[in-house]
Amino acid sequence: MDIAPLLPPAEVTDAGLSSLARGVIGSEILRIAAEIRALKAKGAAICNLTVGDFDPAHFPIPAELLEGTRAALAEGHTNYPPSDGVPQLREAVTRFYARELGLSYPVESVLVAGGARPLLYGSYRALLDPGDVAVYPVPSWNNNHYAYLTGARAAPLPVSAASNFFPTAEQIRPHLGGAHLLTLNSPLNPTGTVIDRDELRRISDLVVEENRRRQRAGARPLWFVFDQVYWTLTFGGVEHVTPVELVPEVAPYTVLIDAISKAVCATGMRVGWGLMPPAVRRRMADILGHVGAWAPKAEQLASAALLDAPRTLETFQTTMKAKVRERLDALHAGFSAMARDGMPVEVIAPQGAIYLSVRFDLFGQTVRGRTVATNDDIRSLLLEAAGLAVVPFQAFGLEGDTGWFRLSVGAVSMADIAAVLPRLRDLLGQARGR
Ligand SMILES: Cc1ncc(COP(=O)(O)O)c(C=O)c1O
Repeated sequence: MDIAPLLPPAEVTDAGLSSLARGVIGSEILRIAAEIRALKAKGAAICNLTVGDFDPAHFPIPAELLEGTRAALAEGHTNYPPSDGVPQLREAVTRFYARELGLSYPVESVLVAGGARPLLYGSYRALLDPGDVAVYPVPSWNNNHYAYLTGARAAPLPVSAASNFFPTAEQIRPHLGGAHLLTLNSPLNPTGTVIDRDELRRISDLVVEENRRRQRAGARPLWFVFDQVYWTLTFGGVEHVTPVELVPEVAPYTVLIDAISKAVCATGMRVGWGLMPPAVRRRMADILGHVGAWAPKAEQLASAALLDAPRTLETFQTTMKAKVRERLDALHAGFSAMARDGMPVEVIAPQGAIYLSVRFDLFGQTVRGRTVATNDDIRSLLLEAAGLAVVPFQAFGLEGDTGWFRLSVGAVSMADIAAVLPRLRDLLGQARGR
């Protein structure tokens, strides 16, 4: 029997949707992914450095996490968890942070959710009224979208390679008086750079100073969200620091955000946590509870066991870090050699996360018959002429054609990298040098 389709594609229109839904910007990376799929379908060799994810073939999760999840499911943990997280995981997070970061948080400050995303969204929702100002550097990950979704007034601070892609305290200072939220992420997506200890201390001091002033005036606080989902991934002697260890007085205004997603290649398992003042936690838990953004129960129980197993974690992370590092180093060495040979590229040495920042200075040139005027021209030239898929910093809120791109290494093999470098050399060798 033929069944008529109920919703033929011709009917797709968003005219009847809310203005919020009509205005939301989908993922730029997903748009690029569709182009890559189309090229791959035609048989092109592509080194796909676009997705901020891990290919399980190269980066599997810890066996203990897999086994723990299986065992918890087999034991019947298939029902709703407490919407703010199972107590076992909330307690394990406090032990993990005390052991690994020297931070003593009470269990009442830990909120568990389905990855870091809901906690970021929940922070914007729980801390800001529509029209409140959210200050964040660009490029950075998704702040523009969370500000949009919550009606916050975005105050993006453009940063550059000159400051390692982090804002300085001096740059932030004039914006804090009118702000209700400051968000930072380190190690930083998209740049793979890490904030400097002294700069973070100065920024944390500013937040404390501003809050003392507001307390005297009876005004609402300035909140500080510090997203550290990549904190276990730092390289080459670079050290991760948290604002609360540097300036403990900033803790009453700070939300720390973290997850298993990047720490143990478990992006699809959806377990994250935030540490925050208990009063914030209570309301954020209510908001996220209504959204249903909790983490699956079996994964939470397995994550709790993993956080309590320092040896297992260390063994896993040593291997994982070495694999991330060798990929970043191979790309860094390849681009550095091209720069030394006078090709128009610039690369920043990897400090953390799974990303490398590379600048392709091809503006105004005609390469393989294509004239390059924008980042998107560079992106499609690299993709179509060299089989390299990368994401421009514009996808992270930085306006303008700067030539800077994010290269993400979690979904490629060393062989993929070895294969793309000669293709790039070939292409960039045809461009005018710097
Ligand atoms: C800086 C940063 N924070 C948070 C997230 C989201 O993490 P999760 O997958 O746990 O939601 C990402 C994902 O790419 C990220 O780069």
